[in-house]
Amino acid sequence: MKNIPIILMGCGGVGRQLLQHIVSCRSLHANKGIHLRVVGVCDSKTFLVTQDVLSTEFDDAFLMDICRTKSDGLSLEKCISSGKCEASSYSESRRKLTDIAARLGFVLVDCSASSETIEVITQTVNLGCCAVLANKKPLTCSMEEFDKLFLQPRRIRHESTVGAGLPIITSLNRIISSGDEISLIIGSLSGTLGYVMSEVENGKPFSEVVKAAKDLGYTEPDPRDDLSGMDVARKGLILARLLGQRLEMKTTTVESLCPDKMGPDMMTLEDFLANGLPLLDNDIEKRVKKASSNGKVLRYVCILENSQCKVGIHEVPKDSALGRLKGSDNVVEIYSRCYVNPLVIQGAGAGNDTTAAGVLADIIDLQDQFP
Ligand SMILES: NC(=O)c1ccc[n+]([C@@H]2O[C@H](COP(=O)([O-])OP(=O)(O)OC[C@H]3O[C@@H](n4cnc5c(N)ncnc54)[C@H](OP(=O)(O)O)[C@@H]3O)[C@@H](O)[C@H]2O)c1
Ligand SMILES: *[C@@H]1O[C@H](CO)[C@@H](O)[C@H](O)[C@H]1NC(C)=O
Repeated sequence: MKNIPIILMGCGGVGRQLLQHIVSCRSLHANKGIHLRVVGVCDSKTFLVTQDVLSTEFDDAFLMDICRTKSDGLSLEKCISSGKCEASSYSESRRKLTDIAARLGFVLVDCSASSETIEVITQTVNLGCCAVLANKKPLTCSMEEFDKLFLQPRRIRHESTVGAGLPIITSLNRIISSGDEISLIIGSLSGTLGYVMSEVENGKPFSEVVKAAKDLGYTEPDPRDDLSGMDVARKGLILARLLGQRLEMKTTTVESLCPDKMGPDMMTLEDFLANGLPLLDNDIEKRVKKASSNGKVLRYVCILENSQCKVGIHEVPKDSALGRLKGSDNVVEIYSRCYVNPLVIQGAGAGNDTTAAGVLADIIDLQDQFP
């Protein structure tokens, strides 16, 4: 049996779902000769690790205890009393992780939403460990930090950072390795904005559609976080860097659907929803009509073309994959020498289940890095 040791950072919706997938896939993985050995888990305050990382692991009952504790909104500290682990504080955890990395090769899985994890990921990977990320932030740092992180690209996977479980990055890597030249990538990579743009197409007011999306649970608690386009910009930058473009976040052109004067510093959420948002209806309605008169529809997309990354509203043909998009699916169209008619990848681009499934597949994909 091949043993793959795992340390998980972040125990929110995605991290917990990953632990559940690991437990429920035990026999599937055993049939493939693989055993995933979880030896450490941390949240924003506490790092739990087995007493002896070389020979012991958290058993499945303890992993489920961790999930229950975190979904009850408690800190991992509550699990210390089980006697099944050692604990350190967040500030000690970084040194602890590099100590372990010097003795044991493991997969460090980043399911946090923090920009601080990049340092420890870089250190452990350069000590011989592997990393799997669902967290986009370490990949949208400065190019200088990015280069240090990717000194060992074969030990890093991050499929779930763009389109959750959809095989977008895998597909792009295969196209790139074959020497096929990619001329254009255009993608609707926000479930929220995909839903909003397809609903306004039929004449519904923008403000009402955004409120409906919020009620359906498609948006962040504050929909301005989606409307800013920053999440799409991060995904666009990750894809651009995959294509070898040395772009920075600050050089990415991002059209925000929420004007600065309606930002969280200027208006409360309630005020924005009641009084700010409706002021945006007219402009969107005009743009929808203009597009429609050209046989086109509006989509909020990232466009990678001519070594640039642009993010914002764009007119696309009604009868294209992007134009036919309804609901909260993500869609990416990839144009290249081989794909003059684009390669289209479409499906659920968010959700704990699909995101965690993408992370798990990335971990299994690293099996050849382990003895
Ligand atoms: N959900 C999706 O559909 C989806 C799709 C694609 C990608 N992602 C990405 O996946 C990641 C996780 O998403 P989520 O929805 O599970 O987030 P979440 O529910 O907010 O959970 C985040 C977890 O990370 C922990 N954390 C925060 N800072 C940390 C740090 N510096 N070191 C270690 N742990 C830290 C938090 O600790 P506490 O519990 O102590 O607060 C929490 O357990 C995010 O980066 C997200 O962008 C999510
Ligand atoms: C993901 O998990 C979080 C925390 O358990 C939960 O609040 C959220 O509703 C889940 N999201 C989905 C789409 O299932």
